[in-house]
Amino acid sequence: MGENALPPPGARRPSAGSRRALVAGALGVLGAVTVLAVPAPAGAAASTLGAAAAQSGRYFGAAVAVSRLGESAYLTTLNREFNSVTAENEMKWDATEPSRGSFSFGSADRLVSNAQSNGQKVRGHTMVWHAQTPGWVQNLQGNDLRTAMINHINGVANHFKGKIHTWDVVNEAFADGGSVGTLRSSIFQQRLGNGFIEEAFRAARAADPAAKLCYNDYNIDDANANKTRGVYNMVRDFKARGVPIDCVGLQSHFGGVPSNYQANIAQFAALGVDVQITELDIGGSGSGQADSYRRVAQACVAVPRCTGITVWGVTDKYSWRSGDTPLLFDGNYNKKQAYDAVLNVLNGATPNPTPTPTPTPTPTPTPTPTPTRTPTPAPGACAATIATTTSWSGGFQSTVTVQAGSSAVSGWTVRWTWPGGQTVSSLWNGEHTVSGSAVTVRNASYNGSLAAGASTTFGFTANGTAATPALTCTSP
Ligand code: G3I
Repeated sequence: MGENALPPPGARRPSAGSRRALVAGALGVLGAVTVLAVPAPAGAAASTLGAAAAQSGRYFGAAVAVSRLGESAYLTTLNREFNSVTAENEMKWDATEPSRGSFSFGSADRLVSNAQSNGQKVRGHTMVWHAQTPGWVQNLQGNDLRTAMINHINGVANHFKGKIHTWDVVNEAFADGGSVGTLRSSIFQQRLGNGFIEEAFRAARAADPAAKLCYNDYNIDDANANKTRGVYNMVRDFKARGVPIDCVGLQSHFGGVPSNYQANIAQFAALGVDVQITELDIGGSGSGQADSYRRVAQACVAVPRCTGITVWGVTDKYSWRSGDTPLLFDGNYNKKQAYDAVLNVLNGATPNPTPTPTPTPTPTPTPTPTPTRTPTPAPGACAATIATTTSWSGGFQSTVTVQAGSSAVSGWTVRWTWPGGQTVSSLWNGEHTVSGSAVTVRNASYNGSLAAGASTTFGFTANGTAATPALTCTSP
């Protein structure tokens, strides 16, 4: 663990004693309020964190516990101050796919809805993580686990498509205290091998080409730490080989800020990725805490590709480490000294000279997209096209696009027959039935209505050799 790092996330609300031990033992490794966080006029100091950050093209976000949205002071503070949000728990695998193939987005959708009503962008946290993974995943082996991972990525990416600015695709995959490049021993690493990270990023890009894709971890804040160097090498390798990655997330759960923190941000940025500070909290109080927060904000605004900061909670009272009072608002939602320090830095930032573009899908050597069949939609009817998005020995994943013709449709049914004994193992964004080699997919409850010319997608993973059978699409 880094010199200033705090306790490895995983353990919720560590006791002060255990935390002191962790910190001491670590040395030297590298009702909706609708006030929008709008940019302040040029030259004027903005009065909220989000508006101040927006002046230099950045965001300032908070992790949100959806269960707290009913508390008026929480909601007011959240919607007034922040222009990005991260679900503290509600987009994790245990919340979104509690049983296999059965997705549940109610809580996360509440957050997205509040965000959209209040001009806030949304970070997606997180697709693949060793923690908060439901029990059914932990019993899977080999390709079955791979299929489930890809299916999960597709399920969440498709559901939130167009609403998420950045996904934490893989979270906390590197080991603490190991040699450079050692991965954490998780079910994913053990059963899929080290390549699971790359597989997850490729699947995420295929599923949501417009979202930025982040690798997110803690204790990668010190520029020289072995863990940092391992992640650095992975990002450099991904960029060199065209594996889609856009961003590194520095969680930044701090006791104090590493002296080389800005250099660390700069070294990742120099690889050609954005850096986002994703889970910032710093224990302490008063001017000492304010100084630490100031240094973090200064480090970010000094690096053009540091595109945003998220603090891990709105108020000290609901922080996962509340005993440390690590956030910008106290338990009564009063602004702390640290708040003023951050606001001043954000207001003093020069406009970001190099706003980073929305990612374009990186061409990857494999899999080669297979040809699609594109029947012309007939008036009042629909057309369906199929493409293989990825494949592996014994299985593959496909995306089917359903498009309405020149009239709106209120439902659709896609049918095909497998040519070589393939079988669907799981399917999302549709309801499917199988009869021998014939597959019938009907729209899900939420994607049957398509305006004229509009389209939607469903996806599936299947066993067997990748195939692109002829599809028919009918509309009731
Ligand atoms: O919702 C249940 C509640 O019904 C139950 O009564 C209660 C009993 O303990 O548990 C509640 O769930 C807890 C949940 O937070 C919501 O409060 C879980 O037990 C608890 O494990 C969970 O902790 C979360 C932790 O991740 C899990 O690893 C923290 O809120 C969340 O802040 C923390 O966030 C992580 C990031 O995702 C990744 N980086 C580290 C960071 C801090 O650990």
